[in-house]
Amino acid sequence: MINQTISPPVLSGPPVSRWRGPFPELRRDTLGFLLHCQTYGDVVKLPMGLVLELLLRQRDAAMYVLNHPADIKHVLVTNQDNYRKAPVAPSESRIFGQGVLHTEGNMHHHQRRLLLPFFHGNHVTAYADLITGKTQDLSDRWQDGTVIDIAQEMAYLTLSVIWRLLFGREASAEADTIRETIAVGQSLIKLQYDSLLASVTPLWVPTHTHRRLTRGLGAMESMIHRFIKERRESSHRNDDVLSLLLAATDMDGRQLRDEEIRDELMTFLLAGHETISNALTWTWFLLSQCRPVQERLTCELNKVLGDHLPTAADLPRLRYMKMIWDESLRLYPPAWSLHTRLAHTQDHLPSGAVLPSGAWVFISPWSLHRNARWFPDPDRFDPERFSEAANRTRLLFSYIPFGAGGRRCLGESFAELEGLLILATIASKVRLRLVDGQRIRPEPVMTLRPNVPVQMTVERAGITEPHFVVA
Ligand code: HEM
Repeated sequence: MINQTISPPVLSGPPVSRWRGPFPELRRDTLGFLLHCQTYGDVVKLPMGLVLELLLRQRDAAMYVLNHPADIKHVLVTNQDNYRKAPVAPSESRIFGQGVLHTEGNMHHHQRRLLLPFFHGNHVTAYADLITGKTQDLSDRWQDGTVIDIAQEMAYLTLSVIWRLLFGREASAEADTIRETIAVGQSLIKLQYDSLLASVTPLWVPTHTHRRLTRGLGAMESMIHRFIKERRESSHRNDDVLSLLLAATDMDGRQLRDEEIRDELMTFLLAGHETISNALTWTWFLLSQCRPVQERLTCELNKVLGDHLPTAADLPRLRYMKMIWDESLRLYPPAWSLHTRLAHTQDHLPSGAVLPSGAWVFISPWSLHRNARWFPDPDRFDPERFSEAANRTRLLFSYIPFGAGGRRCLGESFAELEGLLILATIASKVRLRLVDGQRIRPEPVMTLRPNVPVQMTVERAGITEPHFVVA
């Protein structure tokens, strides 16, 4: 009898530099390169180059880009215990510390169990009035015909919401420090993409950007420590994350130290507003490019809301708006790449590929969502892709804006509630038209943000008079 064994497919990928691996290509055009990688198969192997092999002391170090939903499910869910997050740049670990975003194993489970209930179910819907109230205050300030930078407006709005959630107070003067620090952080990340040296340089090396970032972080930290101290000293407890953390214990039953509380708060502050703000900015951009979709949305809002402010209870009836939101997250997923995973041991993927122990595994919602195999005519904005019928037939794990498995986004329910309420509140009052002559393109930094400010003109007149009626 002949013993037939099927050998795993030989993995290939685009040609890369012997010394510097795929990084020059990635730097030149990250998003384009990832799309190009799809043409090389379900699993694309990118040798990381001799420089990194030496630095990491890892022979044949390679990055493996996963393009097939079944393999993605395997890594993120089925065999997730075989993977951990790859080490981060020194600046990133200085910012997030031991917050839930970066820990592993039992500590990570403990943190998730503590924090998840706060961001789920009825608990998040209790924040609906806060969200719509703040949104209304903001949009009431927009005069008919004025030009606004919608990215900036959304950033301040979402920051003021998460601030209340975390600290139970209003963001005022602090908001500017935070936005500035985030902007410096973004430029540092960009610099790190452009230069390997920048990505391994510790933050204490006094470059211009490092000094600005350290100053900003210092200001944010002293603010957070002041809030912790004030709350510890008062007997007052709020329904906010700070109170939750002050009452919490670690795995050994000890109260959390100020540093641990700081790390979680910093994580939620950064993870919890930049993402939603970009998702909203892209949604306004897409709506401004597609009048029929905008009009159908107006119709739905008129029908469901009349002239009252949206509530959480209205959201299930705003089906078309949810389809728009989902499609926007498909085309412009704020988390354009998941955190790179490292394989503990060799792993056999459903597609037949074999990942060696120590493989760096790269999963990009950006390229997955724009793969014509799962989303025909992938660059076209079409909310119908998320109709109820389409949702039933979509291949699982082909759409992962919030990741999957044990590290799925902790703030997903909250993000959806906030995003949809902000959309409904604004779109029922004004229409936003993109100012002509701007070339808006996605720029992959910490999140997928527009490369330039997004100027939009506010139109108030005629918004309640759509051209057709939805059944
Ligand atoms: C549209 C908005 C958002 C998007 C697209 C998004 C996306 C994601 C994704 C893809 C991950 C998984 C990363 C990975 O597996 O490497 C993640 C993790 C996380 N997100 Fe979000 N997120 C959003 C909003 C939020 C909000 C509002 C919060 C908090 C209030 C939040 C907190 C977190 C945290 C703490 C994690 C880490 C979870 C863990 O590792 O256990 N996110 N997010």
